[in-house]
Amino acid sequence: MTLPSTIETERLILRPFTIKDAPHIINYASGQNFGRYLASVPHPYTQKDGEEFIARRILEDSDKSKTWAITVRPHDHPVGGFSLRFKNTDKSMAEMGWSIAEEHWGKGLTTEGAQAIINTAFTHLPQMHKLTAGADLRNIGSWRIMEKIGMQREALFRQHIYFRDEWVDDVWYGILRSDWENS
Ligand SMILES: CC(C)(COP(=O)(O)OP(=O)(O)OC[C@H]1O[C@@H](n2cnc3c(N)ncnc32)[C@H](O)[C@@H]1OP(=O)(O)O)[C@@H](O)C(=O)NCCC(=O)NCCS
Repeated sequence: MTLPSTIETERLILRPFTIKDAPHIINYASGQNFGRYLASVPHPYTQKDGEEFIARRILEDSDKSKTWAITVRPHDHPVGGFSLRFKNTDKSMAEMGWSIAEEHWGKGLTTEGAQAIINTAFTHLPQMHKLTAGADLRNIGSWRIMEKIGMQREALFRQHIYFRDEWVDDVWYGILRSDWENS
């Protein structure tokens, strides 16, 4: 079985990124606070950064990762994204990632989408055993999502990443298939 390209929730439609999405990505990724805890988001964020992001998402090897753009009904433009990066070739473990534009923070939308990604991964990939996610400890909104979708804190690496001139703590969460089945 494979993962679906489109996932629908009450308020969201998660779909593949397309090249037409570039202006929207550049718009939200350029926000002052968007990349505060993300080494992967340059600041300032240029048109080239946005186009390269899309190109990577379109060309990515589906055996290694899967990405969905977040759209909020009834609109079709992306306001963020979800990713799954497989840790092994049999797709029995994957790392989740997420981001959403600042104008949508605090509405529970990322939690809603992340729960749908977990349900989809465990339902569509019978071999999927465990999903993990990590964040800068200061990024409370991100690790609160991990807790709200049933992940357990497994590790706190102190001063583990050198990011923007300081050592920052790195927190990791995980959910096993058995946790998900019993939730
Ligand atoms: C981190 C991020 C994904 C949170 O998304 P969001 O849609 O605002 O999160 P939700 O609305 O689903 O909220 C999840 C929980 O975190 C809490 N939360 C969100 N932001 C918070 C903050 N800055 N401080 C404290 N709690 C916060 C919410 O209140 C909610 O908990 P609650 O229901 O118990 O109140 C979003 O801020 C973002 O995309 N930031 C930029 C990119 C990024 O950092 N991605 C994560 C990388 S690990």
